[in-house]
Amino acid sequence: MLHDPNRIYIFDTTLRDGEQVPGSQLTTPEKIIIGEALQALGVDVIEAGFPISSPGDFKSVVELSKAVQEPIICALTRANKKDIDCAAEALQYAKRPRIHTGIGSSDTHIQYKFNSTREAILERAVEAVKYAKSFVEDVEFYAEDAGRADNEYLARMIEAVIAAGATVVNIPDTNGYCMPEQYGAKIKFLKDNVKNIDQAIISAHCHNDLGLATANSIAGIQNGARQIECTINGIGERAGNTSLEEVVMILKTHQNLNFHTKINSKHLYNLSGMVSRMMRMPVQANKAIIGKNAFAHSSGIHQDGVLKHRENYEIMNPEDVGIDQSEIILTARSGRHALKHHLERLGYTMDRIDLDNVYEQFLILADAKKELTDDDILELMGNEETNFKDGLAIHSLQVTCGDEQSPEAYVKINYHGQEHEAKASGNGPVNATIKAIESIVGKPVEIKEFNIHAMNGGSEDVSKVDMRVSYEDKSYMGYGFSTDIVRASANAYLDALNKFV
Ligand code: KIV
Ligand code: ZN
Repeated sequence: MLHDPNRIYIFDTTLRDGEQVPGSQLTTPEKIIIGEALQALGVDVIEAGFPISSPGDFKSVVELSKAVQEPIICALTRANKKDIDCAAEALQYAKRPRIHTGIGSSDTHIQYKFNSTREAILERAVEAVKYAKSFVEDVEFYAEDAGRADNEYLARMIEAVIAAGATVVNIPDTNGYCMPEQYGAKIKFLKDNVKNIDQAIISAHCHNDLGLATANSIAGIQNGARQIECTINGIGERAGNTSLEEVVMILKTHQNLNFHTKINSKHLYNLSGMVSRMMRMPVQANKAIIGKNAFAHSSGIHQDGVLKHRENYEIMNPEDVGIDQSEIILTARSGRHALKHHLERLGYTMDRIDLDNVYEQFLILADAKKELTDDDILELMGNEETNFKDGLAIHSLQVTCGDEQSPEAYVKINYHGQEHEAKASGNGPVNATIKAIESIVGKPVEIKEFNIHAMNGGSEDVSKVDMRVSYEDKSYMGYGFSTDIVRASANAYLDALNKFV
């Protein structure tokens, strides 16, 4: 089945497990943009969604199957006919479809989630694989909560589903419980005790509840797993999933392990930024591989050491992950052509972009901030990538504040082609602005999180605002940027509102 025993298959689940983060849901066009970028990155499998879970997920699997044809497109199901029928229908346009079906394998799940027995669950697992097999050749089976499952029972289950036709067997550490030795030993146990294990690929799917997802995935590889399920930036529910960029760069950096992937690592940095902006999920500065500080040397000793010889303090070349250190600065005097060239260098496909519109926004920002770095351009493009161009947007904003007067805001908002205006006062200019917008929109929205960051430093800098709002018990993330922090805050608020208004 496997031609190259040292090849590691990358199964990206950013659009399924990754997208389960509350408030970070993506629209179908956004998923297609990310799917195309994942294809360019070189992933082997894209898990596009869980079709039965919502009409939106169903549509995303259909549209992704049409738009992205090189990687395998995979759809998730539970172990029942209705889910599998729905996934098969959603995958009808996929050139290389895969159904990913499965059921709980730990005694906790069997008893408390299914109120069932080991034998009955094993039977359902086999039936689900056989049924999925009647639609597609490529069927992956997941043994949910395998991390806590009894190894003997897990081995019986895996042997039975392979006999039923599973081509890939996924051993999820659903709750991020295992230690690396434990997870590695589990994979080895399956290698040693499942008679037909060579007829399927073993897949590692690890969660990061104890910060061990990457370590567990690597332990999985070292013991026989050949597919890794992961997400860009390690996003996912709770503490997230295994981070794609970490696994890829570990295998690249530790060549002596003798494993390789098909990933073009130079795309990692830009794709990480794209996912972060579209999902409104900032990447922590010290995040391995793609965090803002991952290659920044601030102490004098380190700076001196790197200047003498890069490898004194760098185990990877930043260019290998797509961080271009000879970055070009653009100014208001840069023409359309320079901007276009710059965007192409950052990985944008020009036929998707309205260059005139981007250039207009670029000039506004360049007037406010003199010199624009790659990060500024990427932020600017964040707006272009989203789908709320016709949604709520600020038309004009005036604020007055200071020691002598209480803060007041006067806003005009475009909403579905109509202009609305309102005035409000508050305990600060941001509060006044939010109140004015609130009085127009008229929805009981609560701001749960509000972060303002300067992008590069300096008082002339662009500020980024990330906001999480709650409306009718659901969370929505919003994101805005501007050289004016009140405007950036208003943009972030409207961005979140656009998800449900
Ligand atoms: O974590 C998990 O067990 C999963 C399965 C549905 C594959 O995401
Ligand atoms: Zn998962």
